[in-house]
Amino acid sequence: MYLSLLLTAAAVASAANAPVKCPIVFDGRVKATTQLTDFDSYSTSLFNAEYVKGQNLKWSQIVKFPTVNTSRFDNDTHKPFEVTISDTSIFQTQKGFRRAGLQFQGDTNNGSPASTGIKTIHFSIKQDPQRALNLSHEYLNVWHEAADYSANQFNFEAGTILGQTSLPRNTWKVLNRQNKQVWSTPIDNTEWQNFAITLDFGKNTLQVYYSKGDEPLKSVTSAVSNNNAGEGQYQIGMLKKPTGTSDVVNSGFQESRINEGLIYGGLFIEDSAGGCVSL
Ligand SMILES: *[C@@H]1O[C@H](CO)[C@@H](O)[C@H](O)[C@H]1NC(C)=O
Ligand SMILES: *[C@@H]1O[C@H](CO)[C@@H](O)[C@H](O)[C@H]1NC(C)=O
Ligand SMILES: *[C@@H]1O[C@H](CO)[C@@H](O)[C@H](O)[C@H]1NC(C)=O
Repeated sequence: MYLSLLLTAAAVASAANAPVKCPIVFDGRVKATTQLTDFDSYSTSLFNAEYVKGQNLKWSQIVKFPTVNTSRFDNDTHKPFEVTISDTSIFQTQKGFRRAGLQFQGDTNNGSPASTGIKTIHFSIKQDPQRALNLSHEYLNVWHEAADYSANQFNFEAGTILGQTSLPRNTWKVLNRQNKQVWSTPIDNTEWQNFAITLDFGKNTLQVYYSKGDEPLKSVTSAVSNNNAGEGQYQIGMLKKPTGTSDVVNSGFQESRINEGLIYGGLFIEDSAGGCVSL
């Protein structure tokens, strides 16, 4: 009896989530009281209500609130959310992609506070067994795209990377601006996986932090050299590339009746001036 009480107390304690230590620049942690329709309006969403998604879809049709425990940097005032894609997830004329990507409201393409100094984007992700990814495809899930859309300063990806099929498909991969893999870890099908990526816009470096479940983050790369120039915006969600084409934006093969998603929690950008990173 005494032992089981102790174990219960320990389980509750380990579920008490970690505080954010550094000043938050953009908070993408969704409040527990948030309704799906709150994502549809600039006045109620943390994100851009009109981007980046199929024009005929509302964010309230794209986002789900799955029944899963909160992740490391969430607490009882937050809830996880899932970004899904379907056959209608076609942005503008980009018929090759199936995509739905959230942008922080205020993360302007030019002059964003999150594209200067030293900033760390945090995100935790979890698989939805009902909406599994098809790892024969390449997925972009989190990235920072330069303001002139000519490159992404980094990509956080899964699946089969086009042109780099020697990389295993069942891993999360951090790629640098040249699309070279900096680090990877196996996709876990049950646990939360927690990531943080620090971009030093002055020194042009990138550093990756990682943990699983409730574990504290650990640095898993050094601050590796990366060209972070060109400002731009972060994007978080799902972008599924087609197969069998050299023009991935506009053409190629996508399965029909797509019903895929990825669960997110603990999403925020913090100011890492002076080396501050929440672990
Ligand atoms: C939440 O975590 C507790 C303790 O680990 C576990 O018993 C429970 O099944 C989890 N709930 C969900 C919905 O994952
Ligand atoms: C939960 O997180 C919020 C930040 O969104 C913070 O203000 C609040 O103090 C936290 N609550 C607990 C119980 O830690
Ligand atoms: C996964 O994608 C490949 C390539 O598009 C396709 O051939 C295959 O049928 C898909 N598998 C599932 C389970 O959808």
